[in-house]
Parts: sequence; C-alpha cells; structure tokens
Amino acid sequence: MAIQTVKQTVFSVGAKHWDRRLFDELIPLPDGTTYNSYLVEGSEKTALIDSVDPDTLNDLFENLTDHGVSKIDYIIANHAEQDHSGGIPAVLAKYPESKVVTNEKCKNMLIDLLDIPENKFLIIEDQEILNLGDKTLQFFLTPWVHWPETMLTYLKEDKILFSCDFLGSHFVSSELFVKDEVKVYESAKRYYAEIMMPFRKKIRGYLAKLNDIEIDMIAPSHGQIYDKPELILNAYNDWTSDNVKNEVVIPYVSMHGSTKQIVEYLTNALIQRNITVKPFNLTVTDIGELAIKLVDAATIVIGSPTVLGGPHPSIVSAAYLANVLRPKARFASVVGSYGWGGKMVEKIAGMLGNLKVEILSTVMVKGSPKEIDFKALDKLADEILKKHENLNLKKE
Ligand code: FEO
Repeated sequence: MAIQTVKQTVFSVGAKHWDRRLFDELIPLPDGTTYNSYLVEGSEKTALIDSVDPDTLNDLFENLTDHGVSKIDYIIANHAEQDHSGGIPAVLAKYPESKVVTNEKCKNMLIDLLDIPENKFLIIEDQEILNLGDKTLQFFLTPWVHWPETMLTYLKEDKILFSCDFLGSHFVSSELFVKDEVKVYESAKRYYAEIMMPFRKKIRGYLAKLNDIEIDMIAPSHGQIYDKPELILNAYNDWTSDNVKNEVVIPYVSMHGSTKQIVEYLTNALIQRNITVKPFNLTVTDIGELAIKLVDAATIVIGSPTVLGGPHPSIVSAAYLANVLRPKARFASVVGSYGWGGKMVEKIAGMLGNLKVEILSTVMVKGSPKEIDFKALDKLADEILKKHENLNLKKE
C-alpha cells in the first residue's frame, strides 16, 4: 500500500482490501473494497478524515509513517460504522494529542461501539467550520446515509467533498481517480442499491443541498475519487428520482421445474411486448445483481413453488430484502405452483408492506402449467404492458 496524492497537501492514506468478498456477512463484493482515509495538512493543523477497518490498520500506519506524520490534531469521524471508525482507538493511541471531531450522535455511538473516552471528542454542529490554518473544513450533518449519525466533510479551499459511504462504491483499483466510468457507475449503483436505496427520499434532499456548494472532487471512503463529480451526482439524481423504467424483475425459485416453466413463459411474453425483463434464479443469484435491478424496475414479479403451505424459504429471504430496500417499483405480482393448496400469494403480499405497489393479477398453477395457465400468463403480461404504457415509461 502506498500513499497517493489527491491534491497538494491532501493525501489518500487508507487501505485497499483487494480480496474481501463479503460485507456485513451479506453483501457480495465482486471487486473488493477500500477503506479510504484522507490526510489534510493545513499550515497549522493536520486532520485525518475517517480511519480504516481494524483489519487493515497496518496499511494506514505504514502510510502515515512513510509520510513522516508525527502529529495528527484532528480525526474526523464522518460515520461510526467500524469499517471507518474501527481504527480510531489505535490512531488515538499512536497520536494521543488528537481529538475526534464529530457530531453528538456519532460521539455517543463511538463511545458505545469503541469505548472511546468522552474527553477525546470535539463536537461540531451542522455547517460548523474547523480551521487548519490555510485550510478550512466544514461539516454537513446528513443523518441516514445510511446511519443516523452520518455527516459529510467539505474542504473549502480545494472544493473537495469527503462523503464517507455516501456516493461511494465497493470497488478497488490501483488508480486513485475514476477512469473506467462504466465500471464505476455499475459498482456505485450496486452500492446505492444495497446500502442507500432505503433512504432515497432523504438522499434527494441532501443532493439538493449540495447544489449550494462548489464541488471539484468527491472523495468517498469506499472506492475511487470522482474528479468529475457530475458522474455520480447525475447518477444519484436519476436513481433517487421517482421515475421508474419499463422493466420487470422476476426473482424466482423452482424445485421440480413448474415455476421455472412459468417464469420462462412470462419472461418471453414480456420480451415480445418490448418490456425489459430480468429473471433471477435465486439459487444462483448474487443478491447485489438483484438489488441493482430493483433500483429502476416498474414491476416486480415473484415466482415460487409452494413449500409447506407458503413460499420457498429463499423467496422469503428475497422478499424480506426487497421490502427493506424499499425500491420504487409501482406494481407487483406473484406467480408459482402448488401441489394441493396453501396461502402463498397472501403470505408474499404480506411481506411487501413497505412497498407502495399495486398488486396485479397473480397466476398460481396446480402441478405443471397447462394451456389455461399460459393464457393467464399472457394476460398478466398484457396487464403489465398496459400499466407501463400508462406511466409512459422509457425502455433502458
Ligand atoms: Fe462503509 Fe456504513 O460503512
């Protein structure tokens, strides 16, 4: 790991976790991740913006030592989650004169999580300024991106926004700045879908507030730095808008082939109607891919066989996830099969309480699908088409 220069007196000193493949024991990380920590050297004071995951503390300390850092005056904690804050106790031990600069809520969480002594904190309010000599940091409290204590730090003279998780991506590269915009867009969309989507409306408000400051660079604490901030700001404006697209997502599981047949038939019926459709066999699906598709889709169709009177447990897990991620889909349906009975549709519908969706016709098939069932699936495809036409949706 080597120190990288963001701009004269601003350095990236964090860690690259090339081979991490799972976050929160839940989220796949196909491209690894980074825990970015930034050193800002003012003429009088030095600040470290966020620390690193404790597993990668050696990288941080190696970088600080290589750079000859003998004193850190302020450790800015934008977020209490341990992938950014977990290294703070060790940094405090090495640089005992440091103060942890954060908001009141974050302070309390850092005390709870990391047992940092109360007298180590310097508490700031929204929009407060911290002087480093010839550099000025300003703090913007942005609760719920994605915890209640989250905040952003803005370096006024260099117009750099240190956004921590917000606007970030789980992506690791030797290059400090975004180069492959297509790849980073996809990674950032995955990150938004998995972490930020439940807070879409709050985020929209924060994006509007960011219009009030001039931003030349966005330096998140995961992924690369955006030296063309419009890439990520435009993307977030699109993802957080109320607009949905002419897309259907079909998460499904099939045990003996009936539900697979149903899903395949419906998929083709939707393709014939010029609707973008993505079926996800949950037994082989990276849930991040499913989350990405939930960002824009107008309609979600869940496909499941009946197991002990209800949906397959993998479907329960996916429905739970979709419900907590709160995608902006407008319509939902359930298709699937049963042997002798059950209440699958009611049970799945009951799991989607957070979604503001209109439930369309459902198609439940006894045994394997027959002519009458295929007709019902055609009817469902027609209904979806009509709903999408009424919304005047664009195809991706
Ligand atoms: Fe990257 Fe919410 O921590």
